Amino acid sequence: MNGWMGWLTALVTLVVAAGLMGACEKEPAQTAPIKLGLVLPYSAVYASLGEDITQGLELALAEVDNQAAGRPFEVLKQDSQVNPKVGLQVTNKFIQQDKVDFLIGPVASHVALAMRKAAHDSQTFLIIANAAADQLTRELCSPYIFRTSFSAWQPYYPMAEWMAKTENIRKVALLAPNYAAGKQAMAAFKEGFLPHGGEVTSEQYPALGESDFQPYLSKVIQGSPDAVFVFFSGADAVKFVKQWAQSGLNRTLPLYASGFLVEGSMLRAQGQDAIGIKNSLHWSDTLDNPVNRRFVAAYKARFGEKPSLFSMQGYDTGRLIIAALEATGGDTTDKARLQRALETVTIESPRGPFKLSKAHNPVQNIYVREVVNGPDGPENRIIALAAENLEDPGTGCPML
Ligand code: BEZ
Repeated sequence: MNGWMGWLTALVTLVVAAGLMGACEKEPAQTAPIKLGLVLPYSAVYASLGEDITQGLELALAEVDNQAAGRPFEVLKQDSQVNPKVGLQVTNKFIQQDKVDFLIGPVASHVALAMRKAAHDSQTFLIIANAAADQLTRELCSPYIFRTSFSAWQPYYPMAEWMAKTENIRKVALLAPNYAAGKQAMAAFKEGFLPHGGEVTSEQYPALGESDFQPYLSKVIQGSPDAVFVFFSGADAVKFVKQWAQSGLNRTLPLYASGFLVEGSMLRAQGQDAIGIKNSLHWSDTLDNPVNRRFVAAYKARFGEKPSLFSMQGYDTGRLIIAALEATGGDTTDKARLQRALETVTIESPRGPFKLSKAHNPVQNIYVREVVNGPDGPENRIIALAAENLEDPGTGCPML
């Protein structure tokens, strides 16, 4: 073989080999597991919320035999410890080492804000299954960030209006944990309350994970409000409701709240102390529609307990991911295509009407609920619709 023939043969061999390698590389991409990286609290104040989201997600995956478009799911879990630094560390590990297809979580707003840049810059899809910080679907919105839960503004703004208009509350004391979600919750409440002649008699922010609420309750009383409005969840919610009842205030002062105060295992722990608390959220296990009835029954059968709102959000997160993957034939490499699929697929949510806004936040009903004694103990009965198909304003999101 002369020189140029030898060179040509080598070139052809190289091209064919490269082509084969390309074909081999593509093949496993269609059958390789879809990696889901869960950044959720399995310890600290919101541990029970993390467990509920995980169980809801597991139910959604089990319903499709743990696969979508022929690709199995691989679920990886990391404990965020409700700590922004830890949340970011485990997010980076999921992105750089595990190369996950989706990040799921977190529960707490300050953890989500810490994770946001890493997800956005690496173009890793982050499906927020709880954290409420408004910015995430406003000025910090991203093509890669979707929320299946709610913005901080959504449950509070209409509840404040409802309290002023329907319950004739004029003077209110506010209490929430001292971090992004607590601050934004109370800002949204005031936005709905003050224009109706409402007055805030005190506004207090105990530390997240506070154990003694008595000094805060003393200050509440000094302002002589008509009612108190609070946002607490997880272990804080159980402690707050117990101490509220111990102080005797449950007999003299109406307590209103975001529904996170009285959900799932928290309500089970609070028992009779929670009776009568009126609260707002975008779901209740007592919501009467066929999808919710099926979901509640399937969850009870699998886990031996009623689902919470957090379980429902985990379930919808799974269903959204499954539907989007079915739409792309399991392809996760074309990010723009997967983004479009996440934006356009429809899922039937147990919460009733559900679609994503252009900023990737749910458009959904907000219900007023009241804790009453039901057939199996205390439950959240729906007593009013605070807002129908409520869309967060999405202020400052460039995708609008
Ligand atoms: C949050 O930090 O965004 C949050 C935590 C618990 C319940 C609701 C919201």
